[in-house]
Amino acid sequence: MASYKKDRVFESITPYGDRPMLFPIVGSVNYEYVSFDVLNRVRSGEVLGYTYDRDDNPTVRMVEKQIAPMEGGEDCMLCTSGCAALAMIYFTYLHAGEQLLIFNEIYGGNYKISLILERLGVEVIWLEIDHPEQVEENISEKTRMIACETPSNPLSKVVDIRYLREQADRVGAILSVDNTYATPYHQHPFELGADLVMHSATKAMGGHNDLMAGAIFCKTKQQYEDLWYTRQAIGTLLDPYSASFLERGLKTFDVRIPKMSQNAMAIAEFLEKHPRVEKVYYPGLESDPGYKIACGQMEKGFGGMLAFELEGEIEDTQKFIEKLKFIHHAISLGCTETLVGLPFSSTMTYWNEEDRLRFGVKAKTIRLSAGIEEKDELIADLEQALS
Ligand SMILES: Cc1ncc(COP(=O)(O)O)c(C=O)c1O
Repeated sequence: MASYKKDRVFESITPYGDRPMLFPIVGSVNYEYVSFDVLNRVRSGEVLGYTYDRDDNPTVRMVEKQIAPMEGGEDCMLCTSGCAALAMIYFTYLHAGEQLLIFNEIYGGNYKISLILERLGVEVIWLEIDHPEQVEENISEKTRMIACETPSNPLSKVVDIRYLREQADRVGAILSVDNTYATPYHQHPFELGADLVMHSATKAMGGHNDLMAGAIFCKTKQQYEDLWYTRQAIGTLLDPYSASFLERGLKTFDVRIPKMSQNAMAIAEFLEKHPRVEKVYYPGLESDPGYKIACGQMEKGFGGMLAFELEGEIEDTQKFIEKLKFIHHAISLGCTETLVGLPFSSTMTYWNEEDRLRFGVKAKTIRLSAGIEEKDELIADLEQALS
């Protein structure tokens, strides 16, 4: 898989071939036309050009082209957030009367979008990731898309992407994979059968808590054009400043991600042995139900995300989090600092309490996003807060 740094797409900006190390940020939203001929050629797509920022932006386009090889895609479409990327995928490909099969174990924002889809006449069927056979039981000629996240937010559960591909092929459905948790460092959903791969680039791709972005990786030019139509129509193009931050963040991607993954593994192993810890969810642990599938579809590690539960009540868990000195209590994930949070009372509040419990998430379930600090410092902090 091509690494981010290897493919240079930006041409020189001087006649001598000098090239800036970062793409220039083009802040203009409007473009002047040198002639009608040029305008017509830009409009028809014959030449790459720009007319208005809701259509395209040169900085964003350069970053898209630069990052497309990370997932082995033909192209990449950047948009304002991970949720915008999810909505763009659903709005582009789903029609009234068609079905979306989606897992309960998925980022909560999908639920909000699903309520809009239902209003527009799409049938949304929620399945349990622990029972993948439900895909076979529910798939039908009406199924237009299967959407999954693996490992999933927040319990790091794993689903077999190859199996979903086989099922999707029975009815010609599209398979869309949210690869935010795994990152393209560890998992390549296109190679496993996905049609579309999306990311909340706000997370590990950006990596520094300083930008919001969504990335949709397209396997074909046609997909890029389909999604471009939706993005232009609803106005979800990423701004060039965030695109530039994303470019900068990605320069250290290959250094940050393995470190996060090594830290997560060390933390999971430490927590699994600790007498005050009731349960650890991490697909890199041999005891985890997702371990075998994860070994077959992830590489070079299992990512930086895990979840765990302490013995005792929610108050004990809150006390533990407040006692952490080095690890931060914050809501996002995939960044340079190690973070913990309680998804039950944050990212999952879109669902009612009964549903959250049904998905296996407890009020005291802690989600941990490993950062790039020294692992001994992280473990010492967990140890002191646990004691
Ligand atoms: C797995 C996953 N997908 C999508 C999203 C939505 O991304 P954003 O917050 O950038 O809209 C999130 C956000 O936490 C996420 O964790």
